[in-house]
Amino acid sequence: SAMDQEDGIRQELGSLHGIPLFKSFIEGWPQVKAFQARPDDLLISTYPKSGTTWLSEIMDMIYHDGNVEKCRRDAIYNRVPFLELREPMCPSGIEQLENTPSPRLVKTHLPVQLLPTSFWEKDCKIIYMARNPKDVAISYYYFHQMAKIHPDPGTKAEFLENFMAGKVAYGSWYDHVRGWWEKKQEKKILYLFYEDMKKDPRREVQKILRFLGKELEEGTVERILHHTSFEEMKKNPAANYETVLPTLMDHSLSPFLRKGISGDWKNHFTVAQNERFDQHYQEHMAGSDLHFQMEV
Ligand code: PPS
Repeated sequence: SAMDQEDGIRQELGSLHGIPLFKSFIEGWPQVKAFQARPDDLLISTYPKSGTTWLSEIMDMIYHDGNVEKCRRDAIYNRVPFLELREPMCPSGIEQLENTPSPRLVKTHLPVQLLPTSFWEKDCKIIYMARNPKDVAISYYYFHQMAKIHPDPGTKAEFLENFMAGKVAYGSWYDHVRGWWEKKQEKKILYLFYEDMKKDPRREVQKILRFLGKELEEGTVERILHHTSFEEMKKNPAANYETVLPTLMDHSLSPFLRKGISGDWKNHFTVAQNERFDQHYQEHMAGSDLHFQMEV
């Protein structure tokens, strides 16, 4: 039945060195751990639902000097392979990367302590993008409904509890954003925020260009900003994930490019949930100089 079929795809989470993760990803871990990065690989690192796809499209556009046609050559998940991806019936992230010519863009959601050591040894450039946890939680909740690899999220209230407790794929948002933030002290990491990108995408793209040591003409930057806007990406089959098999992602339940705003959590959190979340946030961010804007 349809129900059995769905249960067959949804995965319970296992534990990878204490981080909850899909069992199929854990099976592929030896290959990921042994991954050989190349010095000119650029890593796009995020906690899920923090703007990975947005940043990926921006990076591919920068790498192709704002050539929109070239950036339609394939779906975003093939143009920027997902390092630790491993699912039955499709090539793993590692296999995809082996077949990708340099300079490669690589996507990961791994917490900093699990990043394959080769990225540090080769001194690869890394861009991390973080997003405020309230919007991440809501985005992740809807993503659990549509992306059938995840366990059933239950109610919104239940999911929020699991999210706060770090009982979701990739574990605690707090540990993730703080871990990568602290690594920035010693390594070449550009740490960006989704909220800044919403507020002033031009300034953030300029930051990226400076980080890459690359210059682009004003018209090219303009084209990149237009092509990577939420509205353009939502209607672009190469960016909106509509080409994924419907058994894996059901956009009728919730589209991959869902709302694309900061502060949508206000439409979902009850007053009590928000108070609880704020208190939990204070406790878990205590002592850190990392700060988030909950809306823009
Ligand atoms: S994933 O599955 O973890 O890789 O998802 P990720 O791409 O990190 O996050 C998806 C959310 O990012 C929003 N998004 C954008 N927002 C603004 N502008 C653009 N261009 C854009 N592209 C993607 C997407 O809509 C998801 O957020 P929500 O809040 O669910 O809409």
